Amino acid sequence: MNVHAPALTEAQRFDEPASPFADDVLDDLSQHPKRLSPKYFYDAAGSELFEQITLLPEYYPTRTELSILRDRGSAISATLPKGAALVEFGAGATTKVRLLLNECALGAYVPVDISGDFLKAQADVLRQDFPDLAIYPVAADFTAPFTLPQAVAGMPKVGFFPGSTLGNFEPHEACSFLRSARDILGRGAQLVIGVDLEKDERVLYEAYNDKAGVTARFNLNVLHRINRELGGNFDVSAFTHRAIYNRDRHRIEMHLISRKAQTVRVLGRNFSFRAGESIHTENSYKYSLERFAALARGSGWTPRATWTDGASMFSVHALVVSD
Ligand code: AVI
Repeated sequence: MNVHAPALTEAQRFDEPASPFADDVLDDLSQHPKRLSPKYFYDAAGSELFEQITLLPEYYPTRTELSILRDRGSAISATLPKGAALVEFGAGATTKVRLLLNECALGAYVPVDISGDFLKAQADVLRQDFPDLAIYPVAADFTAPFTLPQAVAGMPKVGFFPGSTLGNFEPHEACSFLRSARDILGRGAQLVIGVDLEKDERVLYEAYNDKAGVTARFNLNVLHRINRELGGNFDVSAFTHRAIYNRDRHRIEMHLISRKAQTVRVLGRNFSFRAGESIHTENSYKYSLERFAALARGSGWTPRATWTDGASMFSVHALVVSD
């Protein structure tokens, strides 16, 4: 047996070019307090767990946004120009966009997502049901500037950003995203965006602390991912999921709490945890209608219309680029 083999393997790994995931994890676990970016939740297992979350009885956002898009689809569509190119930022399951496609005479659909394979699969499925619709997938990080396909240059533009993903951005990041979307879509463009609303704290708490423990598995999965992809040695059972509502900052915070004092090794670096120490993994900001309108105005958009469900749990907004 070659006793040097494990050491060599580890040394070789350090010579490999670092990935953004590796860089971010090493950097974020070195912070005080420790943190991890929520964008790393979504590997294949995490995306599957998120799909399960959207079906949980306690997790109202997906269901409620769908009900608004279904019930108010014709009113939403009436605000959109005929023949527009619909640009979806971060194309997920096609359920939501189908509700708009059914209602609107769109010129083209431009789904934008970092995963080219996922985009292609989604576009193929949509083409079967909307054979006349021109679909131009763009593989890009939608939080950074990207160029729209030349084929939609002459069409009016409508952005689509459902799911309250905006809530996972820090307020300054939400403002940057809205400004970037305005620059990408251009003068005269519109944006249809879903935003989760502030509400009874118990409802919020339960939505992120479901009885079946799916959200806990979703949160803990990021540690499995670090073990799998970065050769980490997290004992995942030594961490526990915690989600709390931070009233002052209008946000649900998700944390992974170390159950004991322990040291974890990732890519040759040691990270020590005290018992009870947190890794802050996600914020999910909740807006009032007024605070969202102020954010939109401050980011170069003018609110045009807002739709909510009967219980004011969730909101969908139509914004137009400010002159
Ligand atoms: C994707 N995003 C809008 C979800 C949310 O509610 O903030 C992510 C999530 N985290 C825990 N449950 C769902």
